[in-house]
Amino acid sequence: MRNLWVYDERRQVGTDYTDEARVREYDAGMQRLRNVPQEVDRAAQALSLSSVATVWEIGCGTGELALGLAARCGHVYATDVSPAMIGLARRNAAERSVENITFEEGGFLSGYTPPGPVHGAVSQLTLHHLPDLWKLTALRRTARHLRPNGRLFLRDIVYPSGVPDYDAYFAGLIAAVRSAAGDELAEETVAHIREEYSTFAWVLEEMLKQAGFGIVDRVTDRFTTSYTCIRQEG
Ligand SMILES: C[S@@+](CC[C@H](N)C(=O)[O-])C[C@H]1O[C@@H](n2cnc3c(N)ncnc32)[C@H](O)[C@@H]1O
Repeated sequence: MRNLWVYDERRQVGTDYTDEARVREYDAGMQRLRNVPQEVDRAAQALSLSSVATVWEIGCGTGELALGLAARCGHVYATDVSPAMIGLARRNAAERSVENITFEEGGFLSGYTPPGPVHGAVSQLTLHHLPDLWKLTALRRTARHLRPNGRLFLRDIVYPSGVPDYDAYFAGLIAAVRSAAGDELAEETVAHIREEYSTFAWVLEEMLKQAGFGIVDRVTDRFTTSYTCIRQEG
């Protein structure tokens, strides 16, 4: 029986990714606003993928990263809590005749997991859907499904350490998003800060350590931070 205090990760926070129309919009935005080949390159390099490697993607959305990684490894297990996202991801894979991906409903905390320990785990722009208390549980569960020395590539919106005035920081962030990507994304950033659970870099980094990961690389681009981590033995 499920413990009554466990967070319900299917409850949508911020944007509702169970809404079919919103999911189609997200898919269109992927093509317009993101450089998917570059994201695939970064993740593949961070995970040191080989042609036989297995990868678990958590929060796969419409499946673009999984589709890119599937061309460079043996098999991708891709999970998401949104049935609408999984449905669209499966359709995208079928249209492109990609067969080495298993798309299943599941999240950081519950649901489908790969059948055996994987070489690499990857998650982009998803961990912030969980409150901090549950991020550590999520990272520990991810670590348990990795082989010893398996790698995690984690990319998300993370707030930097050592900022004296976070109101000023957020105002600057929103202005930068507005000038780089327009009003719509700027308003989404406002809602993200207000309603979603992006956390501070020092909090996330300590959680990664407590979950048994060594951080081997950290890259902050304009709006996101990417961590490459190795699961420590023992
Ligand atoms: C902002 S989208 C990112 C999707 C994709 N990773 C990308 O980079 O475009 C967040 C995704 O995380 C999913 N999600 C939310 N909470 C989750 C959880 N606890 N576990 C797994 N996926 C989750 C949502 O359904 C949504 O597809």
